[in-house]
Amino acid sequence: MARKAVTYVCQECGNAVSKWSGRCEGCGEWNTLVEEAAPESPPKGLGRKKGRKIEFQGLKGETPPAPRQVTGIKEFDRVTGGGMIAGSTLLVGGDPGIGKSTLLLQVAATLSKTLSPVYISGEEAVDQLRLRADRLGVTEADVGLAAATSVRDIAASLGNAGGPGGPDLVVIDSIQTMFVDSLESAPGTVAQVRTSAQELIRLAKRQGFALILVGHVTKDGQIAGPRVLEHMVDTVLYFEGDRSHQFRILRAVKNRFGPTDEIGVFEMTGAGLAEVANPSALFLAGREDDVSGASVFAGIEGTRPVLVEIQSLTAASALGTPRRAVVGWDTGRLAMILAVLEARSGLALAGLDVYLNVVGGLKIGEPAADLAVAAALISSVSGVPVPPETVVFGEIGLSGEVRAVSRVDARLKEAAKLGFSRAIVPAPKRVQGNKKKTPEGTMEITEISRLEDLLALFAKPDGRRAGSPVAAANARGRGHG
Ligand code: TYD
Ligand code: MG
Repeated sequence: MARKAVTYVCQECGNAVSKWSGRCEGCGEWNTLVEEAAPESPPKGLGRKKGRKIEFQGLKGETPPAPRQVTGIKEFDRVTGGGMIAGSTLLVGGDPGIGKSTLLLQVAATLSKTLSPVYISGEEAVDQLRLRADRLGVTEADVGLAAATSVRDIAASLGNAGGPGGPDLVVIDSIQTMFVDSLESAPGTVAQVRTSAQELIRLAKRQGFALILVGHVTKDGQIAGPRVLEHMVDTVLYFEGDRSHQFRILRAVKNRFGPTDEIGVFEMTGAGLAEVANPSALFLAGREDDVSGASVFAGIEGTRPVLVEIQSLTAASALGTPRRAVVGWDTGRLAMILAVLEARSGLALAGLDVYLNVVGGLKIGEPAADLAVAAALISSVSGVPVPPETVVFGEIGLSGEVRAVSRVDARLKEAAKLGFSRAIVPAPKRVQGNKKKTPEGTMEITEISRLEDLLALFAKPDGRRAGSPVAAANARGRGHG
């Protein structure tokens, strides 16, 4: 009897190997290889058969700009780059329970005012969807609901999609529950997810409707992460947030039709997701002035300035290797800032546990947050609060220099809008003949060019306010090291 050929496919990254092992060679994840039937036939190359000639065309053409399906949910439209495009596919990934189904039902309901959307769920029954619609107060909206998982049935039902009278938007919740009956593997395996998505995307392109796929992100080997899908779709959005917080952030990580790094901010309420038009106010709510170890960073997320609070806590460590715990910021970047603080401004941090938290569940990727992180750290070690009503931003270099960042005016304007009266910012490069712009409002701007200047600003060992806490902390730190 001939042995049936099998391959093992990593459910995280899609890497296929012929022999099972505990760890995927492709992405290094453990226990992610799952047996799947081998692909139909090995690749044979082109052979002798001649192909059809392709015609090459110039870059200039008569292609009209694609019309956008504007939903009216501003935060959603912003992230998609001004609305979805007919024929394109959008993938929404996120942890279970974060609110993907809620968001997309709301999107479908809002869009139904101008276009006709359908919502196909493979996870919930129609009754459950109705209950949710009731909770969201959208029962009157003209959305076609269906509970289905067979891609063949869905394709048959979408025969007139994109055309007159047919749906313009199809939501598939989720792609992991869909299956193509010609494949043997179970729904949720990479092969099924990939094939189902391929079929649906092809259908969307051919018939010209917008397609939204929901994808779960999980470490569990049973379900394929949407990583394999990311290459196939036009737009990838991640819906993030801490389930214990009410904030949710929709982030574009890939967009063929718009900008990436744009975020939409929502708040989960008892009646669904509410748009947050002014995220800064939300992120800063509950902030206490005059506590040590906190600073406010004026950042840019996509096109928008966003203010967030950065908190840090330092404490003498009982461990040989002190703990460094970070939420919402890069661990490597924190290590760098600690090293620069230690080497360039003489702050002893080596023996201290350091905890850093970006409040509100936002993840910051901007190097411009360096200075705000440093301010929070210095304040925590010295016990001296950062001056009140102050925003901080600037990038820190390895030699302790504070570097200029982009969009200073937008950051200052947002800070002034929220009632901040001071800012600690990088000193701009003095280019000859370049005049310094006067910033908006009446803020007191302190420009600094070295990290030591920041220390001297509010936590100077021999300063008026600080007295000796830094010196004391230094002594403590040294005692440990
Ligand atoms: P859901 O959209 O089902 O998440 P996902 O599809 O990403 O798995 O949202 C689930 C959570 O949202 C659930 O814990 C309940 C909460 N929720 C609200 O707080 N308010 C609401 O109006 C709705 C519909 C859900
Ligand atoms: Mg769901």
